[in-house]
Amino acid sequence: MAEPYLSVRGLVKRFGPFTALAGVDLDVYPGEVHALLGDNGAGKSTLIKTLAGVHQPTEGQILIEGKPTEFRSPRDASAAGIGTVYQDLALNQLLSVTRNFFMGRELISPLGTMRTKEMNEIAHNEMLKIGIDFSDPTQAVGTMSGGQRQTLAIARAIYFGAKVLILDEPTSALGQKQQMGVLKTIKRVRQRGDIAIIFITHNEIHSRLVGDRFTFLALGKVIGAGASEEISDTEMRRLMSGGAEMGDLKQELASI
Ligand SMILES: Nc1ncnc2c1ncn2[C@@H]1O[C@H](COP(=O)(O)OP(=O)(O)OP(=O)(O)O)[C@@H](O)[C@H]1O
Ligand SMILES: [Mg+2]
Repeated sequence: MAEPYLSVRGLVKRFGPFTALAGVDLDVYPGEVHALLGDNGAGKSTLIKTLAGVHQPTEGQILIEGKPTEFRSPRDASAAGIGTVYQDLALNQLLSVTRNFFMGRELISPLGTMRTKEMNEIAHNEMLKIGIDFSDPTQAVGTMSGGQRQTLAIARAIYFGAKVLILDEPTSALGQKQQMGVLKTIKRVRQRGDIAIIFITHNEIHSRLVGDRFTFLALGKVIGAGASEEISDTEMRRLMSGGAEMGDLKQELASI
């Protein structure tokens, strides 16, 4: 098997006295969708914000292609190939698809004007490659559906060099048809073979549909991990609800 592009070893993140991550290990491989699952407050967002350079780890290591790395800022993480698509997508609804695609990284001609035609072509083609034919990228982002916006944010991250694509709950705010569109986009990206995808979700069915490998977090710890075929549906449900510890708590609640 290929080497992991990104690894995490013994990652601890404390906020004051509170431990949000209590020693997390993770390996993500190119060409794979790694579903990161867990209940509210499990530490999923804290983990990806640490990978994205937003938070600095309290302890532990992040390795890129086996090499220990420190991200002091989101810029460092981005330069190392970590592309993060947050739930709010960081898009400006009033600006065109193309302007959003190139936001802050516009192509400028030697005369100092924007290379608009070329930018439109790139935005259109890059989105087309991963599943949407949005033929008029001069339209405002506000005219796109939620699923199309996800695809725009994903295409942008890839075009600007993401080797690890982190998607934080990309399907959670969408209707069913659009959810399937986003899953299709994820599979297209996977098909390229050179990008590792971390897919954060609460949804068992979605993770089964696209996930090659799963990691389950609860209360800042990894409580289960493995390839999709190694994890039964029953096991998956148990791990999704926080494993044995949460099971005990639920039983206790039921008995009151
Ligand atoms: N900046 C912060 N300061 C203090 N505590 C924090 C901070 N960020 C997160 N936490 C706490 O860390 C824990 C994990 O939060 P996190 O947002 O990572 O969970 P999550 O798995 O993403 O949950 P959700 O599914 O609700 O998005 C929570 O108890 C949260 O309150
Ligand atoms: Mg979260």
